[in-house]
Amino acid sequence: MDTRIFLIGFMGSGKSTLGSKLARRIAYQFVDMDHLIEETAELSIPEIFNEHGEEVFRKWEHDILLELCCREKLVIATGGGAPCHSQMMDIMNAHGSTIYIQLSPEALKNRLINSKTERPLIKGKSESELLAFITGLLEKREVFYDQAKYIVKGIDLQAQELARLLQDS
Ligand code: S3P
Repeated sequence: MDTRIFLIGFMGSGKSTLGSKLARRIAYQFVDMDHLIEETAELSIPEIFNEHGEEVFRKWEHDILLELCCREKLVIATGGGAPCHSQMMDIMNAHGSTIYIQLSPEALKNRLINSKTERPLIKGKSESELLAFITGLLEKREVFYDQAKYIVKGIDLQAQELARLLQDS
């Protein structure tokens, strides 16, 4: 099994929840890229977007990824936009196994509407605006997400299935 497992996918696809369970199963350390950026910056993601802007956030995402690529036995939950800039998908594919957790725009909308996590990109959107936003952005992002080594359906997905997928490969 690769020493780094990157979980990728849209906001709300379950990367962090599945990632921490997967890490426990395969005895790897779990890292949430967003949390690591927040810890390093001593700011929350909304504060980073407000105070520094998205461009700076994307640069920090890239820096953190390069650091993680020097560490071993990690399951990494990436931010939804991380694979889509600065050759991040290529970097992840070169340094470990990438798994795209795929959900439909409708399923993502239902999860995000009920989520307590504050996400700057979708803040203040109505349900119909959110669905339109997800549909448009997902179409652009899937160009990158589809480069993952594994693509798995995210509905009812269990960490056990991911562990099996990795162990069988
Ligand atoms: C983002 C997703 C968020 C976080 C930031 C930007 C995105 O992470 O990195 O708000 O561009 O899709 P999650 O995918 O964990 O929500």
